Amino acid sequence: MMILGAIGGALGGHLGGWRHPDAWPLSMMQLSNSIEFAKTAERGKLHMMFMADGNGVRQMDKPELFAANSPSDRPSVFEPVTLYAALSQHTSRIGFVGTATTTYEEPYTLARKFGSLDHLSGGRAAWNLVTTSNAEDALNFSHSEHVARDTRYGRAREFLDVVRGLWDSWDENAFIQDKTTGRYLDPAGVQVLNHRGEHFAVKGPLNMVRPPQGHPVVFSAGQSEAGKELAAYGSDALFMSVASMQEGQSLYADIKGRMGKYGRSPDQLKLLPALSVLVGRTAAEAEALFDELQSLISPTLGVAYLSKMIGADLSGYPLDGPVPDVAVQSVGGTGIGTSIQQMALREGLTIRQAYERILPQMGGNMIKGDPEQIAAAMTEWFTSKACDGFMITLPLLPRGLNDFVDLVVPLLQQRGVFHMDYEGLTLRSNLGLQRPIRRIAAAKTLTAA
Ligand SMILES: Cc1cc2nc3c(=O)[nH]c(=O)nc-3n(C[C@H](O)[C@H](O)[C@H](O)COP(=O)(O)O)c2cc1C
Repeated sequence: MMILGAIGGALGGHLGGWRHPDAWPLSMMQLSNSIEFAKTAERGKLHMMFMADGNGVRQMDKPELFAANSPSDRPSVFEPVTLYAALSQHTSRIGFVGTATTTYEEPYTLARKFGSLDHLSGGRAAWNLVTTSNAEDALNFSHSEHVARDTRYGRAREFLDVVRGLWDSWDENAFIQDKTTGRYLDPAGVQVLNHRGEHFAVKGPLNMVRPPQGHPVVFSAGQSEAGKELAAYGSDALFMSVASMQEGQSLYADIKGRMGKYGRSPDQLKLLPALSVLVGRTAAEAEALFDELQSLISPTLGVAYLSKMIGADLSGYPLDGPVPDVAVQSVGGTGIGTSIQQMALREGLTIRQAYERILPQMGGNMIKGDPEQIAAAMTEWFTSKACDGFMITLPLLPRGLNDFVDLVVPLLQQRGVFHMDYEGLTLRSNLGLQRPIRRIAAAKTLTAA
């Protein structure tokens, strides 16, 4: 079955989305918006909501863009795990994917946070492991520059091993809490990790009984060589950005093909590309909404946005002249800048045409149309092995999510590609992922330590 997640954050996925009359009147730090989002997604049986994250305020060197609040730049947002702790009390089935970085966090505190969320939500927590895309976040963590990619990924892999080891600290039944005997816990049910590696020395155990899912689900996002290898090694799901169905197919085969050497079966890693969905009751309504959103972006803002995405300042070039063949920098090492420039050069786009093209899709893929067209396109991607599902982003909130749930989900269900209801109580079971067996390291038990 197709897996579906919705990308949260109250701004919507289009730079002009928050200005539209149908957008939430206030979008910054509004718990009520996030509760409504989570409940709507759950009404549509979506597997999860997803929050990207970073640790810094971006784009302060691009005043136009900064003042207009580009959705991916997040100048004022909730910390995801904290927000999810609140949302978990208003929902019962939907999963919560929160982004946290291995480059600046510590495994012990991260294992506690996601373990706590898993307990609070009854087994619906997921950690999206990133190594941080925004280089300047380094300056908030006593570093003078971004850590090099190879070092980041080396640390990420060890970090993941440590976190999983910590989640395995306690046997599920270790806390007997027997009032008659006075035994609160069984010391034989805990193990000390005693990890010593290249990047971390962590004794353990974690001060928390094993999470309901055994291990919260682990996502990763990053598709360089190192990113793909990390996903094949240890992720349960990969959040990707692909430009076309064909690219999706080749990445799908590539990444799943790497899993065998780690003793993993390809169905234990779910590949989920971002997909921007603009749905109308009719194709004409979708086009009209698209035009409305586009009209909310001034050319100055459009150029600033394109400059950011492409990684080169285009403000000095004529708006209706060609996108120049200047050196570009990729955003966070993702290669998005190069692919936008290549597309513009290939198709002979002007600067205005290029920003109008990329604005609604945020550097990923967009489909717009009536519900039937959207459902058909998503089904085609899914059945032709370009993905295991999608992380959808809605250009306008809350309208876009309501429309998706009410108009598109029933069609996906009719086509038999999307579930009619949640299969289980935990996110892991709804995603068709095995519950990890607790690894017991005999030499590291409490008695041996
Ligand atoms: C679809 C996608 C979503 C991402 N989301 C985030 C994010 O929310 N926060 C973040 O710091 N990095 C994010 N990243 C970047 C990762 O942190 C990754 O480290 C970065 O892309 C560089 O790794 P790579 O070279 O393997 O792509 C994302 C990357 C992709 C492809």
